[in-house]
Amino acid sequence: MRNPGKNIKITSNNITISYTDEGPDNAPVIIFIHGFPFSKEMWDNQMEAFNENFRVIAYDVRGHGDSDSGTDDFSIELFVEDLLSLMDTLKIKKTSLCGLSMGGYIALKAIDNHPYRFDALILCDTSCKADSPEAKRNRMIAIESILKNGVEKFADDSLKNFFAQESFIAKKDVIAEVREIMVNTTKKSVVKTLLALSRRKETCTKLWKIKVPVLILVGEEDKITPPETAQFMHKAINGSVMSIIKNAGHLSNLENPDQFNEHLIKFLKNKII
Ligand code: MLT
Repeated sequence: MRNPGKNIKITSNNITISYTDEGPDNAPVIIFIHGFPFSKEMWDNQMEAFNENFRVIAYDVRGHGDSDSGTDDFSIELFVEDLLSLMDTLKIKKTSLCGLSMGGYIALKAIDNHPYRFDALILCDTSCKADSPEAKRNRMIAIESILKNGVEKFADDSLKNFFAQESFIAKKDVIAEVREIMVNTTKKSVVKTLLALSRRKETCTKLWKIKVPVLILVGEEDKITPPETAQFMHKAINGSVMSIIKNAGHLSNLENPDQFNEHLIKFLKNKII
């Protein structure tokens, strides 16, 4: 029996996962996967915009939001196991996946490992590339700083890179909300996730295998996974659609939700409904 609602706790893959499940019972399913170090709350706007015609699920990735971290080291592979376990627990055979940044890394690995469980991908502000040696070094510097100075300084340093210029003036409330989510992530989980991200494998060489409809969205001022990175995936994924979101940086769904949702609904109408 389905149990729709907000902030539901369920045991899956031996940890407690917190998720929100809204929309009609028999509607097509979309699962939203947040970036690092955020939570399912970053999808509130999309959940509200799509819950009439879709069954929309957003969950907290292990160690984020209200989900447990468990005792294992984190890895993208473990996050994929968690996703598949959640789908099995909720008896979802097939779904569309919408992942932003780290959520996109998880979505790309998930479709590579389990191609028949997904019927569309929405890849937002993400990349198929592994960390460069410099990016790995920066993660290690960040870990040292977090262990010494805590998550708040890491959050404040990271926030400078997450948003478009205009957002710092017009979206101060959004920035404050994102900061709140970031500083509520435990030091241990932030460090474990940084290690997982630094060790993640590339998925660029697997993109040609993707056979489902793919929408690629990217903020025009995304400094972390810029439009060229999105363009690279767009070229490699047969039949993919790509759109650039104006007045948005790395968190395009939060910075320009109207334009983000417009592209998403157009894609879903064409491909799914
Ligand atoms: C994210 O938003 O998930 C992060 O920017 C991903 C990363 O640090 O690679």
